[in-house]
Amino acid sequence: MDQSRLRIAIQKSGRLSKECQKLLKGCGVKLNLREQRLIAHAENMPIDLLLVRDDDIPGLVMDGVVDLGVIGENVLEETVMERQAQGEAAEFSILKRLDFGGCRLSLAVAQDANYQGVKSLEGKRIATSYPWLLKRYMDSQGVKFKSVMLNGSVEVAPRAGVAEAICDLVSTGATLEANGLVETDVIFRSKAVLIQSASPLSASKQAVIDKLLPRIQGLQQARE
Ligand code: PRP
Ligand code: ZN
Ligand code: MG
Repeated sequence: MDQSRLRIAIQKSGRLSKECQKLLKGCGVKLNLREQRLIAHAENMPIDLLLVRDDDIPGLVMDGVVDLGVIGENVLEETVMERQAQGEAAEFSILKRLDFGGCRLSLAVAQDANYQGVKSLEGKRIATSYPWLLKRYMDSQGVKFKSVMLNGSVEVAPRAGVAEAICDLVSTGATLEANGLVETDVIFRSKAVLIQSASPLSASKQAVIDKLLPRIQGLQQARE
């Protein structure tokens, strides 16, 4: 890859990907996106886009593989906690808070469960993709539990007999509802953010960022 071009990581597919592409388009970045291609070169600006799993974006920025990334604060905070626990570097800066990707990380239980507040989960199993955020919340509540790590389809856990509760992202609530679950406690509220690597940038890459930021600002103001 051309080292002189600004590298931005965005989600390949999922709730943030369409919004990210819309944002770049709105900034005047002409992208030549083709099905299954994981790198896209902008036609009119020195920008390369990496299309990756959202969970990988914070690490790619923290390791300096890419210059910028767009990611939900939930995934970002989880990665920071995980890296800190492992004694790994977790440096980055937040360039801009974005106005999309709103969701919450919540506890949920089966509709017919006898839930009397978070203390009801003492000693129970909770399925999640966010073990660190979950542990921080449960520690703050003084409730001991067992974490069951699932990378996806977390909502299936109670009916599958894998866990008594789940801790997962809720946006519209449709997924919980479809799986017979009710949201009980919101533990983290999240939106998308634009983050930057802590590695120093060349003057030409900085110039591209200086062009993009006011355009993003303008787009967000127009939407308010
Ligand atoms: C989240 C979450 C739920 C779903 C909830 O997944 O894991 O499955 O969205 O949305 P709803 O409340 O609108 O039904 P996400 O899109 O973040 O994908 P990922 O977990 O695969 O990254
Ligand atoms: Zn994900
Ligand atoms: Mg999901």
